[in-house]
Amino acid sequence: MKNIKIKEATIPALGFGTFQLADATAYTVVKAALSEGYRHIDTAQMYKNEESVGRAIREADVPRDQVFLTTKVLPANLGAKTFMPSVTESLQKLQTDAVDLLLIHWPNAEVPVEEYMEELMKAQQKGYTRYIGVSNHPTALLDKVLATGAGIITNQVEYHPFLNQDKLYTYLQDHNLTLTAYSPVAQGKVLGNPVLKSIADKYNKNEIQVTLRWLMQQDNVLAIPRSANEAHIRSNFSIFDFELTPEEMQQINQLKQANTRLINPSFAPAWD
Ligand SMILES: NC(=O)c1ccc[n+]([C@@H]2O[C@H](COP(=O)([O-])OP(=O)(O)OC[C@H]3O[C@@H](n4cnc5c(N)ncnc54)[C@H](OP(=O)(O)O)[C@@H]3O)[C@@H](O)[C@H]2O)c1
Repeated sequence: MKNIKIKEATIPALGFGTFQLADATAYTVVKAALSEGYRHIDTAQMYKNEESVGRAIREADVPRDQVFLTTKVLPANLGAKTFMPSVTESLQKLQTDAVDLLLIHWPNAEVPVEEYMEELMKAQQKGYTRYIGVSNHPTALLDKVLATGAGIITNQVEYHPFLNQDKLYTYLQDHNLTLTAYSPVAQGKVLGNPVLKSIADKYNKNEIQVTLRWLMQQDNVLAIPRSANEAHIRSNFSIFDFELTPEEMQQINQLKQANTRLINPSFAPAWD
């Protein structure tokens, strides 16, 4: 297992995502992920599964303080009136006094960056979260976030071998921030890619494992793959027993292209 240290935080680099996992499934698979060794779980108000995620963590054989738990505030809740009540509701559902990381899920064109960042900082001061961060923020918005003086630790964005995020990655590195890779295995689309397949064959691994390993070998990158399949949950965690060569890292870097986003809703900001 790899941990990333950023500011005062120590975060397991390989986490577990819960997007599109309905209640019953989320409960079962989060429990499975924890017993497999995952110690970093990602949910969101938007996923409507905080209750099951919370119950799974509470009932697992792992103490709460050994799990790095992230949730995210829904864009509709970013205004000063709704922000804090939504956070306390999340904590109730998650059955915890505080999460480890609270993120702004998406910017909201109707709410100024300064307004939601002030609420996010207040949530941290109140002890509702240990660390704060953002998600889906391009560099222009990150400039505004950092201008508020907020001590964020990450920007969670789409990041996988098929999407060029070089500009954003460099910005984050320059500002000592982590990149949390969502849709890290391109929602399964890395399977069948010939470059990834030939590298995978060499190590007796699959394309998903090679992709996750490529992410783990980059500085300050975390990844939160999702799976509802226990065999996949296990194999996705089995990536710490081999190492890609610099040449193989380069071969995978060359798969990157512009305009290949899988997640691009109508309310998305202007991307880099
Ligand atoms: N901040 C945001 O706006 C945002 C947006 C999207 C996602 N996220 C977060 O990032 C997490 C991951 O992203 P994602 O859910 O979009 O996609 P992902 O993790 O890239 O891909 C999930 C898909 O890959 C398949 N898969 C995983 N491991 C596999 C394996 N070993 N073999 C074959 N198929 C495999 C899964 O199917 P099986 O279930 O069959 O394994 C599932 O269909 C989310 O769950 C969420 O927590 C955040």
